[in-house]
Amino acid sequence: MDRPEFDMLPSNQAERSEQLAVDVLRVISASLGAGASLESFYRSLTANVADLVGASKVVFWQLGSDRMLRAIPGAYGVDDDFVTRLYPAPCYPEGTDITSQVVYRDLIFRAALGDPGQSPRDRRVLDVLQVSNAISAPWRAGDARLGVVAAYDSINRDGFTSEDAWMLEITGLAAGLVWQLKQAESQLSETVVRLEQVDSARQLLLRNLSTAVDRASKRFAAELHDDGLQKLTAAEIRLAGLAASMAADDRTKIGIDEISALLEQVEEALRNLLENVRPPSLETPGGLETTIRQRLAALGAHSGITGECAVELPEEPPYEIKSVLHRQISEALTNIERHAQATRVRVELKVENDGIYGAVTDNGTGFIVSERDRLPGHLGLLALGERPLLAGGWGKIRSEPGAGTIVEFWVPLPK
Ligand SMILES: Nc1ncnc2c1ncn2[C@@H]1O[C@H](COP(=O)(O)OP(=O)(O)OP(=O)(O)O)[C@@H](O)[C@H]1O
Ligand SMILES: [Mg+2]
Repeated sequence: MDRPEFDMLPSNQAERSEQLAVDVLRVISASLGAGASLESFYRSLTANVADLVGASKVVFWQLGSDRMLRAIPGAYGVDDDFVTRLYPAPCYPEGTDITSQVVYRDLIFRAALGDPGQSPRDRRVLDVLQVSNAISAPWRAGDARLGVVAAYDSINRDGFTSEDAWMLEITGLAAGLVWQLKQAESQLSETVVRLEQVDSARQLLLRNLSTAVDRASKRFAAELHDDGLQKLTAAEIRLAGLAASMAADDRTKIGIDEISALLEQVEEALRNLLENVRPPSLETPGGLETTIRQRLAALGAHSGITGECAVELPEEPPYEIKSVLHRQISEALTNIERHAQATRVRVELKVENDGIYGAVTDNGTGFIVSERDRLPGHLGLLALGERPLLAGGWGKIRSEPGAGTIVEFWVPLPK
C-alpha cells in the first residue's frame, strides 16, 4: 500500500509522469469511440487499462446508492468464476477498512503475495480474490465517488510497480469523467429512441384523428349538400314560381320576396359553412394556397380588409398537415373578421426546421391575450394553441391593445 510522490521519483520523473498521464488520458478517451453501448465501452475501457498497467484482469467496482460496492460484470480478463467470488462490499465515508479508504479517502492499494512487508489484512484481500497481486485506486468524477478501479495479476514478473499504481490513480480520475459522459450519451440515445417512438405514435394519432375528423366532416358536408341545400333550392324555386304568378303589388308577394331574400342569405351562409368544413380544393395540389386566397378575397368583399398571402411551400404537404394549417388560418381569419376591426391582414406559410411555420397578422384593435384566452364557451384561441400541439408542434398568440394581433404556429412534417 503506498502513494508515490513526485519528489520521490527519479530525476526526469516529472517529464515521464506527464507523458504517462497523457498516455492514460489518450487510452481512456480512445475507449469512448468503442461501440454505442455502455457494455462495449466498458469492455474496451477495462482492456485499455489492463494494457496500460500490464494487468491480466481489470475491474471497476461501482458504489451503489445503498453504499455497497459491486463489481461491474463484463470486465476484461474476468470470467464467471472470478465474478462469483466478488461479493458486494459495504463502504462508508468514515470506514477504516481498505475498501472504504480507497473509495472515500483516495487511498491507493497495492499488495502482492510474498511481499515481506505485507499485512495480514492485505493478504486476506488477495486470498479472497485468489490473485497473486493487486492494485486499486478511487474511481471518481470530480468530488463524486463512483467506486474503485482495480487491476489484478500483473503480467510482469516483478508485479505491479508504484508507477502502475500511480497510473491507475489517474485512470480512476479520467475514467470517472469519461464514464459519466458515456452514461449521459447512452441515456440520451435511449431518450432519443423513446422520443422517436412517442413521435411516431403521435403521427399515427394525428393521422387517425384527422381521418376520423375527415370522415365526419365528409359525411356532414355530403348530407348538407345533397339533402339540406337541395331542399332549400327547391323551396326557393317554388317560392319564385309562386311569386311570379302574383301581381306586383300583392302584399303576399312582397312577403314571399322577403322570405326568398332571406332564404338566399341562409343558402349563402350554408355554402360558406360547407366551404369551411370541407374545402374541396384542399385535396388538389396547390389547393391550400387557393383556399387561403379565396378566403382572403371573401374577407375583402365582406369586411373591406386588404389581404396579403405569402405561401412558400415547395412541396405539397400531406393532407393531414394541410388540414391542420387550413384550420389554423381559418380560425385566425374568422377572429379577425369578427373582432379585430382590422384594415390589413397577412397570411404567411413557409418551410422551417423540418416543418411548416405559419403566421396570420392583423393590424386591428388587438387585445390582452391572458384576459381572453380562457373565456367560457369561446374555444378559438384555445384551439389555435392546442391544434398544432397535437400535431407535435406549437402555437402562440401575441397581441396588445392598439398593436394588432399575430397568430403563429409550427407543425413538423412527417419524416
Ligand atoms: N384578432 C383578434 N383581434 C382582436 N380581438 C381578438 C382577436 N382574436 C381574438 N380576439 C378576442 O379574443 C376573444 C376570444 O377569442 P376566441 O376565438 O377564443 O373566441 P370567440 O372568437 O369569441 O368565439 P369562438 O369560440 O367562436 O372562436 C374574442 O372574443 C375577442 O375578444
Ligand atoms: Mg374565435
